[in-house]
Amino acid sequence: MEKITLSVIKADVGGFVGHSSVHEDLKAVAREKLAEAVKAGTLVDFFVANAGDDINLIMTHRRGVDNPEIHQLAWQTFEAATKVAERLKLYGAGQDLLANAFSGNIRGMGPGVAEMEFYERPSEPVIVFMADKTEPGAWNLPLYKMFADPFNTAGLVIDPKMHDGFSFEVYDLIENKRITFSIPEEIYDLLVFIGAPGRYCIKSVHSRTTGDIGAVSSTERLNQMAGKYVGKDDPVCIVRTQNGMPAVGEALEPFAQPHLVAGWMRGSFHGPLIPSAMKDATPTRFDGPPRVVALGFQLANGHLGQPMDFFADQAFDRARQTALEIADYLRRLGPFEPHRLPLEEMEYSTLPLVMKKLTGRFEPIKK
Ligand code: F6R
Ligand code: MG
Ligand code: MG
Repeated sequence: MEKITLSVIKADVGGFVGHSSVHEDLKAVAREKLAEAVKAGTLVDFFVANAGDDINLIMTHRRGVDNPEIHQLAWQTFEAATKVAERLKLYGAGQDLLANAFSGNIRGMGPGVAEMEFYERPSEPVIVFMADKTEPGAWNLPLYKMFADPFNTAGLVIDPKMHDGFSFEVYDLIENKRITFSIPEEIYDLLVFIGAPGRYCIKSVHSRTTGDIGAVSSTERLNQMAGKYVGKDDPVCIVRTQNGMPAVGEALEPFAQPHLVAGWMRGSFHGPLIPSAMKDATPTRFDGPPRVVALGFQLANGHLGQPMDFFADQAFDRARQTALEIADYLRRLGPFEPHRLPLEEMEYSTLPLVMKKLTGRFEPIKK
């Protein structure tokens, strides 16, 4: 049996209206491009989704991760969508396409990438999580709960296929280094780092029982790549579920208690991550609050079939209400921390430009 690769590649190539959503014409042109690739035999299947103003290309194929043809296909699809965005004068048309031309691998060129290759199990339920108005570290807390917290995931205690735990690969996005922790023994060591989601991000999770990959996230930092404020990374994350992995309900459970993430308004504010149906993932208030969409797919020989829009369910209504209450409270703080991000994290916002103007005004304080 051949392995299947699930690639989720995303970009914001123009918002409708402002930074709120994706215009249907952009999704239509993306579908056209990817349908051609299915006909040509490059892709097995695809689904074009969006979370807020980000287009998510969910693709299956047999070419492995980091495949130049698949990355080029995604790049060209975003270019085609950019053309439509320019014609419609959408906001920030082509925003995340930082390079002028494609050069072999889409990583580092602006879009976010999460890919995994695996043997499709007899039944292969996967969830694609997609966020808007936040950064890759937003997945740290939910991934920890899914794969390491027995209060969230009952299977860690009662399923022999999960009882040996998982290994967590963590990226240091500032120094470009990585480290792997064995869980549960090294939970405390892991938490030292992933509790600082602005710098350390969980890149992937593997089963220690089978060695199988369980989760992978996009860790691209847009502003670092661009060297200036462009927009937020708006990351994606793929999670395999059931039969030795967290059950679907264990993978969704962390989002029932909305956590605070960085990335609201101008990429500069903390806000609650609201679980949303795809149609409701349309950041409005204060350009937010941040959203997360979860689409489930039941793979069948690489075919994605119809997605299940998990957060459309009423079971997440209360989480949404809680998140809105948190939002009300935080908004009262206006431009003050901790609603606004700490200064070091504002480095890639537009604030340093304002501060620079005032540097000459500072005088030494006499003792
Ligand atoms: C974009 C975002 C928005 C913008 C804001 C200002 O990712 O989060 O909040 O930063 O709308 O955009 P400009 O500066 O383009 O007017
Ligand atoms: Mg945008
Ligand atoms: Mg976005």
